Amino acid sequence: MRIDILTILPRLLDGPFADSIMQRAQTKGICQIHVHNIRDFSVDKHKSVDDYQFGGGAGMVMMAQPIVDAIEHLSQSIQYDEIIYLTPDGVTLNQGFCNQFSLMGNLLLICGHYKGIDQRVRDRYITKEISIGDYVLSGGELAAAVLVDSVVRLIPGVMNDETSALTDSFQDQLLAPPVYTRPAEFNGMKVPDVLTSGNFKAIEEWRMQSALEKTKQRRPDLFDKYNNLAE
Ligand code: ADE
Repeated sequence: MRIDILTILPRLLDGPFADSIMQRAQTKGICQIHVHNIRDFSVDKHKSVDDYQFGGGAGMVMMAQPIVDAIEHLSQSIQYDEIIYLTPDGVTLNQGFCNQFSLMGNLLLICGHYKGIDQRVRDRYITKEISIGDYVLSGGELAAAVLVDSVVRLIPGVMNDETSALTDSFQDQLLAPPVYTRPAEFNGMKVPDVLTSGNFKAIEEWRMQSALEKTKQRRPDLFDKYNNLAE
């Protein structure tokens, strides 16, 4: 998979892909991540990337020209499966999207700032508008990092233990059950007996029950969806 990211703050993306699973995905050649500075595509002498919004109002808007030139430049050599704009007014990212994106070959992500990008770029070029949650970040970079991380870890060969992504929260519509490691007793708190029983059927049942209870309590919306699917 190849992921290109357009941003006016490329340094913000130096960290998130430089360690651990994201780093391994890249060194193994499973995923390439390329970060591009939108400012490099600005054509005026001040290297402008934003301007006042038509109709007045507070906040600048990211200009169409540098973004469109960047998209056109990259698209000359890369056929993108999706051109994704990270924005708080997008559709909320979920594990289903992550699974879908992880099967794709080339993704282009665009990070907004200020009031966002000129609507004409959205109308003409963007194929998906994604939000990572109902809160506003100061820019799309951290949202892009979240999306990339959640997608790349699902690509076959990226995780050491291939099965562990399958038991993540949300992978089967439920929140994940509690987990414990050694010692079996810590500061007077004991691990549930069933987990040290060696009875794998009982362990599976306990995990399922715990996941159901946690989901019902914390995310009744997911719990209902799960029950509807099971019917
Ligand atoms: N940019 C600013 N806030 C965002 C959010 N919640 N999701 C995606 N992009 C954003």
